[in-house]
Amino acid sequence: MKYVFPKNFYWGAGTSAHQVEGGNVNDWTEWEKEHADELAKNAGGKWQKWQQEKFPEMFDPQNYISGRACEHYSRFEEDFDIAKELGHNAHRFSIEWSRIEPEEGKFDEDEIEHYKRVVGALRERGIEPFVTLWHWTLPLWVAKQGGWASKKTVSDFSRYTEKVASAFGGDIKFWITFNEPNIYAGIGGIKGLQPPGKLGLYGVFSCYKNLARAHKNAYKIIHKINKETQVGFSNSVIYYPSKMLFLYDFIWNKLFIYLTRGCHDFLGLNYYTRGGVKLDTKIGGTENVSDLGWGIYPEGICHIVKSFKKYKLPIYITENGLADAKDEKRAKFITNHLSWLAKAMEGGCDVRGYLHWSFLDNHEFVEMRGFWPRFGLVEVDYKTMRRKIRPSALEYKKIIENNALEI
Ligand code: BGC
Repeated sequence: MKYVFPKNFYWGAGTSAHQVEGGNVNDWTEWEKEHADELAKNAGGKWQKWQQEKFPEMFDPQNYISGRACEHYSRFEEDFDIAKELGHNAHRFSIEWSRIEPEEGKFDEDEIEHYKRVVGALRERGIEPFVTLWHWTLPLWVAKQGGWASKKTVSDFSRYTEKVASAFGGDIKFWITFNEPNIYAGIGGIKGLQPPGKLGLYGVFSCYKNLARAHKNAYKIIHKINKETQVGFSNSVIYYPSKMLFLYDFIWNKLFIYLTRGCHDFLGLNYYTRGGVKLDTKIGGTENVSDLGWGIYPEGICHIVKSFKKYKLPIYITENGLADAKDEKRAKFITNHLSWLAKAMEGGCDVRGYLHWSFLDNHEFVEMRGFWPRFGLVEVDYKTMRRKIRPSALEYKKIIENNALEI
C-alpha cells in the first residue's frame, strides 16, 4: 500500500530548550538539585527489572541533573546541519523564558539575539521554525510568585510574549504558545512528580485557567504584531479506545481547546500512546512497548486525529516518538504511525506536518526521568557530546524524500 503526502507537507522533529540546551537556570534546575538523590534511590521501585538492568544510569543521581544537557545552545548550527542532511524542512524548538527575562521586567537582549541566530540558522538551511514560547520551565522569579497558579503570571507571560514576538517581527510563521498544559497540570500539579509540584485541586484549577487566559492573550498579542502568522498550542493527546471514557477524552484531550476557543489557527497534537487499557508492558512483555514501557499503538493516531476534525483547523503532529535506546523499534514506529496518519488524512483530516519527538536524545523531563530514555533520531554521547545519526532517522529520511511511504 502506498501513501502519498500532500505537497508542502512539513517534515521534521522537535526539541525543547531545557531538554537540550544546557546551562539553564530555572525552576526545573532547582527541582533537579533538590530531588536527584531521592529519584536515584527510588528508581528501583519505579521501573521493572528489565528496565533497571538495561539502564543502570537510573540509579545515579547525576542522571537527573540536566546540566550541560546536549550543549545544543552552542552546537545548534552543527545540529541543524544534521537536520538538513536528514531532509527535514521543519523544526520545532522552544525559547527559554528564564534566559530572556532572568529578572522581572529585565530582558536580556543577547539572549534574544541568540534565538534570532537559531531562527536564522534554520532558515539558511531551508528549515521552517515552529517556535514554542513555553515548554514548562519558569524563570525563578515566576516560580517564586506561585508560577501558573498565580494570576500575575498571566500578565508577565503577556509581556514576555510581546517582547519576543516583536523582536522576531514577521519572521515566524508558526507559534506554539504552550506545550501540553494538561501534562504540566496533571503530572506536575496533581501527581507532584515534576514542577510545579502538588498544587491541590484549587491550585491545579487556577493553573489551568491561567494558562488558558495566557494563551488567549498571547494569541491576540502575536496577531497584533503579525496578522499572517499562525498561532496554536501543543496538546498531549491520548487515544481512549472505549467510548465509556468520553469524559476522560474531553478533559484530557479537548478541555484546553474549549477554554481557549476562537484563539487557534491550528492544533498541535502530541501523540504517544493510548490510555484506559492496562499498561501494555504488564500484559504483553517488552515487545510492543518502548523503553519506558509505553504501549506502541500506531492505529491510535488515526482515531485521535479524526476526533479533532470537528474543529475544522489545520493539524500538525508536533510530537510522536518513543524511547528506544537500541533503535530497534523506531523505524517501524515511524512508518506505522505515518501510515495510520495517512489514513486519517484520507478520511478528510487536514494534517499539514509531522514533527517527530525527538530530534536529539535529551534530558527526558516528564516525571523527571533524566537522561536514560533515548528519544532521539540522533544519538548523543553525553561524555563527548558526539552526535550519531540512528538508522531509523535514515528510514525517516527516505519517507521525507519520497513524500510518500509504502508498506
Ligand atoms: C513532552 C516532551 C517529552 C516527551 C516524552 C512530551 O510530553 O512535551 O518534552 O520529552 O513528552 O516524554
